[in-house]
Amino acid sequence: MNNNSTGAVPQGAQRVLADYWETLRGWRDDVWQDWHVGLDRYADSVAALIGAPAGSLVTDANLSTLLARIASCFDYRPPRDRVVTTDLEFPTVPFVWNAFGRYGARADVVATGGVRFDQDALEARIDERTLLVCVPHASFASGDTIDLPRLVAHAHDAGALVVVDAFQTVGVLPLDVTALGVDVVLGGAHKWLCGVGTAFCYVRPDLTPRLEPAATGWQAGDVALTFRPSTGWAAGAQRFAGGTPFPLTSLVSQVGLDLLAGVGVPAIRRHSLACTGRIIERAAAAGIAVVSPTEPHRRGGVVCLDVPDGEAVKRRLAARDVICSWRGWLRVGPHVYNTLEEVDVFMDALEEEIRR
Ligand SMILES: Cc1ncc(COP(=O)(O)O)c(C=O)c1O
Repeated sequence: MNNNSTGAVPQGAQRVLADYWETLRGWRDDVWQDWHVGLDRYADSVAALIGAPAGSLVTDANLSTLLARIASCFDYRPPRDRVVTTDLEFPTVPFVWNAFGRYGARADVVATGGVRFDQDALEARIDERTLLVCVPHASFASGDTIDLPRLVAHAHDAGALVVVDAFQTVGVLPLDVTALGVDVVLGGAHKWLCGVGTAFCYVRPDLTPRLEPAATGWQAGDVALTFRPSTGWAAGAQRFAGGTPFPLTSLVSQVGLDLLAGVGVPAIRRHSLACTGRIIERAAAAGIAVVSPTEPHRRGGVVCLDVPDGEAVKRRLAARDVICSWRGWLRVGPHVYNTLEEVDVFMDALEEEIRR
């Protein structure tokens, strides 16, 4: 029940790990050709899952690296030097924007009270000084979601670009980046995508030619594989690449992604809502306070519960092989492979541990 933190990697990954070892053991220099095919296949599979065209998405080790790379594409000159964001971001987001303060970026943080986004307050802060709006699709802390179609339309009317951290939603909530017209979407494999060690960045294809990252690397160049210095950019989202990639993480993550894509995100979302709905009902019946929004359209894949001595309860549950995470609240994030019966097993165990 820990997918908002670290999702389960399917057993098929064992085969990929074994093959990778064989590749290393019997090394040949042209291994890289196959690895590039695998890297591109994974990037295009993530793209397909979020309604993006092939070639519009790049992968790297983590979201922080990719966010900083996107941030390095802009000149933060007044009057448009502001980055509107919220206080419900994953900690990497404020850290990166504060660091870019050195180059003139001014983070404009909308306060939320710690659980729910105030969409009106957020939109009221977007004006002719706003260069970027950088928000999550769903909060890692509370599971509350933002109405992205409304936000993107509002930001674009004001001439601002929208960067979305969708780490907590891609794989469990439907997201069609093309229909949405959003500018940049970031996410990663190791939660709801049942992968490991890789993150992604989608950039709206008609925006891509206008963005030139200063934080870059040779793989972003137009003649990278000739091993001469490039003078131009690679085609498509490859311009947001860095240095030598680590293919293993894409190859392993492909296994989980293929399983999820086979089920389809709308079906995953229906099952997720049924599971989180059951958690909410059972919590209400047991007198456990639910922190996350209870309205289906507002909640992401996680339910946060306010449990006394929650961190110790989490540890006692883990000793019973019942896994969730604790970040001030107990965070319970079932995925498509969890059953409603398992949700009941979880809630029975939780109620017992609280009573202890
Ligand atoms: C919303 C969100 N963004 C980003 C991250 C992680 O970013 P990174 O890949 O840089 O560690 C997480 C969780 O680890 C998250 O929940």
